[in-house]
Amino acid sequence: MRLISLLLLSVLASFSVSHKILVYNSQYGHSHSNFLGNIADILVDAGHDVTSFIPVMDPEVKDGTSKSKKIFVPQSKETKEFIVAMAEHKADFFSMNNFDPIPMLFMPKAFAMQFVYQCKAVLEDTDVLKKLQAEKFDVMIVENFDMCGLAYSHLVKPKSLITSGASSPFSYMFEEFGVPTALSYNPSSYMSTMNVHSMFERAKNIYADFMMHVLFHPGRSMIEELFREKFGAEYPSLQEISSHAAYTFVNSEPLIDFAAPTLNRVIPIGGIGAKAPKPLDKYWNEVLSRRSTNILLSFGSVAKSLYLPEAIRQSILTTVGSFPDVTFIWKYEEPENEFGKAATAAHPNLVLTSWMPQNDLLNDKRISAFVTHGGMGSTQETALRGKPGIFIPIFGDQPRNAGMMQHNGFGKVVDKFDLQKPEVVIAAIKDVLSNDSYRKNAARVSAMLAKKPFSSKEQLIKTVEFAAEYGPSRALRPQSYDMTFIEYHNLDIVAAFIVLSILKVFLLKKFLCCLYSKCCGAKKEENKSKKE
Ligand SMILES: *[C@@H]1O[C@H](CO)[C@@H](O)[C@H](O)[C@H]1NC(C)=O
Repeated sequence: MRLISLLLLSVLASFSVSHKILVYNSQYGHSHSNFLGNIADILVDAGHDVTSFIPVMDPEVKDGTSKSKKIFVPQSKETKEFIVAMAEHKADFFSMNNFDPIPMLFMPKAFAMQFVYQCKAVLEDTDVLKKLQAEKFDVMIVENFDMCGLAYSHLVKPKSLITSGASSPFSYMFEEFGVPTALSYNPSSYMSTMNVHSMFERAKNIYADFMMHVLFHPGRSMIEELFREKFGAEYPSLQEISSHAAYTFVNSEPLIDFAAPTLNRVIPIGGIGAKAPKPLDKYWNEVLSRRSTNILLSFGSVAKSLYLPEAIRQSILTTVGSFPDVTFIWKYEEPENEFGKAATAAHPNLVLTSWMPQNDLLNDKRISAFVTHGGMGSTQETALRGKPGIFIPIFGDQPRNAGMMQHNGFGKVVDKFDLQKPEVVIAAIKDVLSNDSYRKNAARVSAMLAKKPFSSKEQLIKTVEFAAEYGPSRALRPQSYDMTFIEYHNLDIVAAFIVLSILKVFLLKKFLCCLYSKCCGAKKEENKSKKE
C-alpha cells in the first residue's frame, strides 16, 4: 500500500516540472514589495524553485516574501544618506498638489537618485552576478519601476523575462509594455474623474500624463547611463530590453479597472497581493459588536495619519462626533500619544489602532463602509470583500484607483483638500450609508470576482510555467517597438496627404484657369470674327 502511494507520488511529481525563477524585488515601497513578494510565495507554493533578489533601499520596508530563498544587496552608504535625508523632509503628502509644475523642476532627479545609488551597489557586487548567471534561471520577474532590475536582467540572461507593474500601467509603462495609450478616455494616475466630453478634462489628462513622464524620465536615463558607462555604449535601452519580455504582469483587475487597450502579452493579475481572509479574534469581535454600524478609516502606510495637519485631524474628530451610533476604527500610528488619548476620551465611538487586520475586518458583515486612501492593495481588498467606500486619494496612483471605484458604483471620491471640511466628509459618509446602491454594486462585483473564469493566481502560475518552458514568443511582440515616432503615428502618410491635397488644389486651379482662358479666349476670337 505504502509502495503504491509512493509510486503514485513520484508519477505525479514527474508531471509537474519545477522551474528556476528569480524575482527582482527592490525593497523600496510597501505596495511594490508586497506585490513581488506575493508573486514569489505563490510560485513557491506551486512547486517552483524561487529566489528573491532584494536590493535593500529602505530597511523599514518589508520584503513581502516568507517562502522564497533570498539574496540581499545591503543598503549602500549613499542610499542610506539619501533615504535619511528624505525622511527628514517628511513629505507632506496631504498638502502636495500633483498638478503643481514647480516641484517638478527639482523633484524628478532627487526621486531617481535613490534608485541609481542602490543600483551602483548591485553592480559593484560582481560575485552575486556570477552566481545568478550560473543559476541559469528559466524566468526572471522584474518591475518596471526601479529600472535597475530591468537593466540587470540583460546581464542575468534568464530564458524568459517577465516585466510587471504593481499598479495599473501608467505613463512610460505604456511605451515599455508596448501598449497604446488612450489618453482621450483612459484616466492617468493623477485623475479621479474624467468627463470624456470635456475638452478641458482631456487636456488635463494629457498634462497629468506628461507630468508623470517628467517625474520618471531621469530615473530611466540615469540607469541607462550607469549600465553604458560600465558595459559599453552598446548596452540596450530599457525599452529595447522590455520589448523582448515574454509576458507582462499588471496589478490591474479588469472587473474594476477602466476599460482600455491592452495586448495579449499583458496579463492582469489584480488582487494577487490580497490574502485569504481569516476570522476575527476576540478583541475585534468585541469592537464590532459595540454598535450596529462600523466604519474603517485608514490612509495606508506611507502617508501616515500621525503627520496629518491639525486642521484635518480636528475635522475627522468632528465627523466622528456627528455619528454617535457608528463605531469608527481609525488606523493611527501612535494611539497612546497626547492627541490619541484626548481623542478617544472625548469620543466613545472612536477606536484608534496602530495596526488592524484590514482584510479580515473588511470581510466581516458588520463593517458598513471603508474610508480609504485608495492604494491599489486597499482598493482591491474593498472590491474583493464587497464593501462600499469613501475614497480620499493622497498621492501616486491613488486618484485613479479612487476614480475607478466611484466609476463602478462602490462609493464616493472625496478630494483630499476637502478633508479639512467636516461637512463634506459627513455628507459623503451619510450618502454611502443611506444609499443602498453602493452596497449592492459592491456585493455584485465581489461575487463576480469570486467566480471569474480564471483567477489571478491561476493566470500567474500558468503564465510563468509557460514562459519557463518556451521562452518569449515572437508573435506576442508588437512591431510598434521597431517603428519611429513618425511611422507609428502615420505622420508620413498625413504629410503626403497634405502635400498631395495642396498640389491637387493648385493643379485644379491651374487647369480651370487654363480651361477658362481657352474658352473665353475662343469666345473672344468668335466675337472678334463676328464683328468683322
Ligand atoms: C444612490 O446613488 C446612485 C449612484 O450614485 C444614484 O444614481 C441614486 O440616485 C442615489 N439614490 C438616492 C436615493 O439618492
